[in-house]
Amino acid sequence: MEVPENLKNPQNARREGSNMKCLADYSVEKEVGEGSFSTVYLARRKEPKNDENPEVALKICLKRLILKNKMVPYIHREKEALALISREENAHPGIVTLYATFQDSESLYFVLEYAKYGDLCTLMQKQPDSKFNVADSRYYAANLLSALEHIHKLGIIHRDVKADNLLVKSDGRIMLTDFGSSKFLSDYQKIQENPVEEEQPTGRRSSFVGTAFFVTPELLTGSEMSPSSDLWAFSVTLYLFLTGIYPFNDMSEYLVFRRIQDILYTFSEDFPDENAKNLIERLLVKEQKSRLTSQEIKEHKFFESIDFEHLEQLEPPRIY
Ligand code: ADE
Repeated sequence: MEVPENLKNPQNARREGSNMKCLADYSVEKEVGEGSFSTVYLARRKEPKNDENPEVALKICLKRLILKNKMVPYIHREKEALALISREENAHPGIVTLYATFQDSESLYFVLEYAKYGDLCTLMQKQPDSKFNVADSRYYAANLLSALEHIHKLGIIHRDVKADNLLVKSDGRIMLTDFGSSKFLSDYQKIQENPVEEEQPTGRRSSFVGTAFFVTPELLTGSEMSPSSDLWAFSVTLYLFLTGIYPFNDMSEYLVFRRIQDILYTFSEDFPDENAKNLIERLLVKEQKSRLTSQEIKEHKFFESIDFEHLEQLEPPRIY
């Protein structure tokens, strides 16, 4: 897709005396992704002038669409969560870094860490049998778990964990992205004490926060979500990596939800790993308190070979 003219030659220059970033500080190279309310471009900082200016992902959200679809709280949540995670003392290599945000009359801009190889779901579908081998699944799952443990310690639940929200960087390592559905834990507890209807954005109004295959039983029953909700989605993701299919799947969203509520899923005869099977069985559990904790997952036999303290020393899979 061509980069629109207004992004190549932005009219609005920096305000006098301000050190806020603006569109004119970046050269926009190509479109790399499109969502319902945003477009992501590969861009580079113009200063300092040399060839090594790092690539960034420039996510552009049109204000008109954000307002029309009642997405304002989601944009705020994403910015607040990413700003907290991107503080130097909270940095984690498995989570996308937010470098800057700015706006003009038409758009909101997020300047993000760039992931050269795109999302893990698309990459998985391009593998010879549309799934990952056990070693690669373990590598990605361990890194996802580490990222989740980190955000949970910061008091954030992601609430939209899925392979599509894991991006692969130029060195093959992954990072968790899209914090638009996330929630601050304390915030959530306040809501529980003093319940208020959360306004749902248009298009999601009659449905839910997240993606059908990864939805938790607690979301379907309207119960409180907790960090263990992300661990449910972690186990759905691990099942997907190992088999190329979703544990809960059916002809319609409604039937998928029924299966989730009834915990109706199976392992095929040729499911590739007994330890992974046991781990998944202990996470796809209706009662949140009965699911394994992230500490228990790290200590599970499936991750016996993984040193979670030194994940960065593992060689990433070459899947691209
Ligand atoms: N698509 C969405 N976010 C992205 C990012 N940070 N890098 C590359 N592509 C993306």
